[in-house]
Formats: sequence, C-alpha cells, structure tokens
Amino acid sequence: MIHPILLCGGSGTRLWPLSRKSYPKQFAKLLGDQTLFQASAQRLSGEGFAAPTVLTNSDFRFIVTEQLADVGIDPAAILIEPEGRNTAPAVLAAALWLEKTDPDGVMLIAPSDHVVPDAPAFRAAVQAGLSAACAGQLVTFGIKPAHAETGYGYLELAEDPGDFSARAIALTQFIEKPGAARAQEMLDAGNFLWNAGIFLFSVKGILDAFRSHAPNLITPVQQAVDAGQHDLGFLRLAPEPWAKADDISIDYAVMEKADNLVVVPFAAGWSDLGGWDAVWRETARDDRGVATSGAGTAIDCDNTLLRSEDSNLEVVGIGLKNIVAVAMTDAVLIADINRAQDVKLAVAALKSKS
Ligand code: GDD
Ligand code: MG
Repeated sequence: MIHPILLCGGSGTRLWPLSRKSYPKQFAKLLGDQTLFQASAQRLSGEGFAAPTVLTNSDFRFIVTEQLADVGIDPAAILIEPEGRNTAPAVLAAALWLEKTDPDGVMLIAPSDHVVPDAPAFRAAVQAGLSAACAGQLVTFGIKPAHAETGYGYLELAEDPGDFSARAIALTQFIEKPGAARAQEMLDAGNFLWNAGIFLFSVKGILDAFRSHAPNLITPVQQAVDAGQHDLGFLRLAPEPWAKADDISIDYAVMEKADNLVVVPFAAGWSDLGGWDAVWRETARDDRGVATSGAGTAIDCDNTLLRSEDSNLEVVGIGLKNIVAVAMTDAVLIADINRAQDVKLAVAALKSKS
C-alpha cells in the first residue's frame, strides 16, 4: 500500500493577501472549486493508495478535517506538530508513525500547495517509481526546468530523460536551492531537472537514510511520536522532544547526502504556485493574456490578473499592462506582475509595522 503523507504546515507569504499565516495558500481556492489541499488529497486517493496521513500544526487542524470531509476523504491519521521544524522532522515523524502499523509500506510525501492538473498521469509516474522505492531507493519526481530558478532543488540525471516517459532513472546529484550562477549552468547543461518536492520512499528506506545522514533527528522525533497524546482523533507530537529536533528540510538533511536516489521524469504539468505570476500562468486567460476571477472586470488590459475574493467588491482594471491586482475585504495588492516575487517584502514590511 502507498500511504500519502500530506505536508501542510507551511505558510506561504508570496501569495499575500490571499495566503495568510492563519490561512495559508494550501487551504484557499486559488484555482477551480477545490482548495489546493483538497486537490492534493484527491490526486492521491483510489486504487493502490491507503487513507492519507496529514502533518500540520495546531492552528490548521480543524481546517484540515473540514476540508477533507468536504471531499469525502477520511484520513488515517492527523499528526500535529507543536511547532514547525521544517520538512525533515515532519517526514521522519510520519515514517516512525507508519513503522508501527505498516513497516513494509511505502510513503508518498506530497506538499499540499502544488498544482498537478493531470492526476492520472501523476499516479502513473508514482507507479513507475514503485519498484525502486520498494527496493529501498529514494524516488524523486523531475520537472523540465523552464528558467534558472533558485528556489528549487535540481536533480542531475545519470542519463538523458529522452521523451520524459515515466521510468526510474538514476541520479548522480541532488542540489538544493543553488545560487543564480549555478542554476543557470544547470539549466544550460541539459541533464538537470527541477525537483518537484514530491518523494516516494519505503518506510524502511527512508528510516535507513535518516539513520545514515541525519542521525541527530532520530531520538527527539522518535520520543515525540512515542510520547504523543491522542486528542479528539489527532496525534499531538510531544512538544519537549520535538523542540530538540533540528529545523531542517528533507532536501538538505537527506536528499543532498544520499547516494541511492532515482528520478521519475514528469512532464504532464506541475507548478508550485510560488507567486501571483504563477497563478496568472495557471489561470485561464483570454487572447490578450488577461485572467479575471470573482468580481474582477478587465477593460482593454494586457497580461493582467484581476481577482476579487469578495463578491461584493468589484475590481475593475482599465488599460493595465503586466499588473496583478488582488482584492480582499481587508487588503488589496496591486503589483507589477514581474515583481510578483517581492510580495514577500510587503509581508515583511507589514509585519514590522504591526
Ligand atoms: N507539516 C509541515 N511542517 N509541513 C511543512 C513544514 C513543516 O514544518 N514546512 C514546510 N511544510 C510543507 C509546505 O507547506 C509545503 O507543502 C512543503 O512542505 C514543502 O515546503 P516548502 O517550504 O514549500 O519547500 P520549498 O518550496 O522551499 O522547496 C521544496 O519544494 C520545491 C518544489 O516546490 C524542495 O523540495 C525543493 O527541492 C523543491 O524544488
Ligand atoms: Mg514550496
């Protein structure tokens, strides 16, 4: 059985004002009728998949249960992290938890804030990586890089991905978040893919990898799981040992160090919606590149995203070019679409004001 492990503890700041600390982007309806979290859970349900295990924090626990119930999914477990310690402790906690019930199982680590429109193609890619994962290898999913992005991990392939058919290819290197020059080199080299941030591991395989590459995490996380408190269907990890776990991502803690990595290339569409420019790209646009949603109206605009998140709040743009405008009842963002990444600066500025 493949156990989906849904990570939804992060708080994306680049999609402010829709994404907030108290209600981050994975729980918002950014595209279509479902939230990104709901779409992620549904993508990993059906034949071959066990009920999902969710890792989140205390603030989001009821959002998680409500949103899963809404799409008819009953989670196997919801693990609550006393504080966010990044993805390595979260993945290790899930592996140690599953070891108790299905030590021979396989886990699919899935961020809950990505867009993967073709769910059947994604499930086929997972199947293509399954035998490698069962053999103890650490399976990544690789996306054809589109630009010299510095916010992603890069995967160096031992051979050409060819037509991107779904098969496991050995990796020679995993490079997390390179500098700009290195990212450009890897883009130019041609045998590098972006790491999708989705992983397929056997419980045994990932526990072995943590023991070899991040042994300091084992004791605190094991104690946090073993001393966890069951509370209204949630498992609250024990705060004291959890606070002793290093704050580190799985990419740095394990993937950069491991030598048993493979990649399944995935070409059917993937975005991590890392900013409003990405949302604009993923939203249906007219022939002048204009996307509107909610009570947004564009007149004679080009390459523009206009969103109103409140049906009583009309947002009208006239003659705009390369603009993102997002209106909420309590905040409005108006930005150059090419500066979409700087929204995080606005959030930092607002934080220091409050
Ligand atoms: N439960 C839990 N707890 N989830 C977390 C935590 C945590 O402490 N921290 C982050 N997450 C969740 C986020 O909500 C997101 O769904 C996922 O884990 C990945 O974390 P990010 O913080 O978004 O990672 P990233 O985008 O910087 O980098 C990762 O994803 C890229 C692709 O989007 C890496 O895997 C990169 O290599 C990869 O290219
Ligand atoms: Mg991310």
